[in-house]
Amino acid sequence: MNKRQRWATRIGLILAMAGNAVGLGNFLRFPVQAAKNGGGAFMIPYFISLFLLGIPLMWVEWAIGRYGGKFGHGTSPGMFDKLWRNPLAKYLGVIGLAGPIAIVLYYTYIESWTLGYALYALFGKLPTVAKGASLQEINNTFGSFLNNYAGFNSGSNIFLKPSVFAYLIFLITLGLNVFILARGISGGIEAFAKFAMPTLFLFAIILVIRVLTLGSPVDPNVSVLDGLGFLWNPDFSSLLNPNVWLAAAGQMFFTLSVGMGAILTYASYLREKDDIALSGLSTASLNEFAEVVLGGSIAIPAAVAFFGLANAKNIAASGAFSLAFVSVPAIFSFLPLGFLFGFLWFALLFFAGITSSLALTQPAIAFLEDEFKIKRKHAAIGIGIFIFIFAHISIFIKGALDELDFWVGTFFITLFALMETIIFIWIFGPDNAWEEINKGADIKIPKIFYFILKYVTPVILIVIFTAWIFQNFGSVLKEASPGKWIARIFLISFFVFTGILVYFAFKKEKKT
Ligand code: ALA
Repeated sequence: MNKRQRWATRIGLILAMAGNAVGLGNFLRFPVQAAKNGGGAFMIPYFISLFLLGIPLMWVEWAIGRYGGKFGHGTSPGMFDKLWRNPLAKYLGVIGLAGPIAIVLYYTYIESWTLGYALYALFGKLPTVAKGASLQEINNTFGSFLNNYAGFNSGSNIFLKPSVFAYLIFLITLGLNVFILARGISGGIEAFAKFAMPTLFLFAIILVIRVLTLGSPVDPNVSVLDGLGFLWNPDFSSLLNPNVWLAAAGQMFFTLSVGMGAILTYASYLREKDDIALSGLSTASLNEFAEVVLGGSIAIPAAVAFFGLANAKNIAASGAFSLAFVSVPAIFSFLPLGFLFGFLWFALLFFAGITSSLALTQPAIAFLEDEFKIKRKHAAIGIGIFIFIFAHISIFIKGALDELDFWVGTFFITLFALMETIIFIWIFGPDNAWEEINKGADIKIPKIFYFILKYVTPVILIVIFTAWIFQNFGSVLKEASPGKWIARIFLISFFVFTGILVYFAFKKEKKT
């Protein structure tokens, strides 16, 4: 049997895991969610979710991953099969294998926009508007720039028409991902994280300082402090709204990357006695710092300082993409050295994105390596070709990207988190699970977490999953544009195909 790849250093492991977690979600999704769901009051369900869902699930995933790695399995089908000796278990694991790679099919494309925009900013090719321009004017200028870039302005045609530049940058982004992945865990992912994560934090800190020193750039009555106040002054009435609680839990899954299958694979490269208690907690803390402190101090406070409260609310309501690619570049274009800040902003998003897309692609590579003994380079190139072919669905078909995100970026994440918790805690057994989590631990996890893991986390997951289905299913299934159907048919075929691969992988294993 080939020797399993390992992380070379602990700091490298933590940076790679933090890279897995810190993504577009921290800098775009979080401020929009907080602004839309009660500002400071959002932080109450958010931190409750962190303690009752985020951190416990982090430990669960690290522990399942390390346990599976011991048997040479880097993905959920093999891991579930070891935790639960039931023929069904490996098929439940299909979600943690097909899910992340399906996310990559659109995530890599959006990540490539950030690289494209970083280059545009650096070479002064982004549009500009005069300071004091109205939101309408900004939306027209930067909005149509984005529409041309990604080809959203194709009218009623089902096909989008992205610019040649956008397509080329996508190919470069994908090539870069494949190149790093082909170099392996320590030589590729870890080495890259050691460079990308400190750079990301540095860029973020520079941008935070720039934003916090904006003062009152347009109206003496509106300062950047009002922006912070907008984000952090609690509106307690929002706590009575169950959707605020769902939004907080959803943000927790997305930002920590739990329920995706990616943490399991990274953890499978740990040694049996490596600590996971402290390392898992450190990763979560780095992510929360990047999200709450840094992510909360750039886009929204700057938007308030320049456009005032009412407009900033509209900006937050128009969503994360509009914030990233329309409002923020407009704001930076008002500043001296604006091109540089624009570049730092998009480069920051690119590093956040690529360290997450590497993590989301690695499960598929690990599966080919572990279960079919395919060489790492060949596996990376093979998966790269797969992504190249099927990413065309998100690049060219209207509505497909959102539909993929709805299923694999939210629905399956919650379902998978629920499944892995039940298999690990209840089927593998709460005492065995607790022992696995504490094996080699560098900190003593308070015993209360035993109780939380056994009862609280699974119950909350069931409540969230059920509430989520009631809230979303009916309305979504009624939407039936051709693009959405293409995405759905693709997803069903892909999951079935992955199930067939799992069948053959384990048939072979039985024989050997
Ligand atoms: N956790 C990653 C993000 O925040 C997926 O974008």
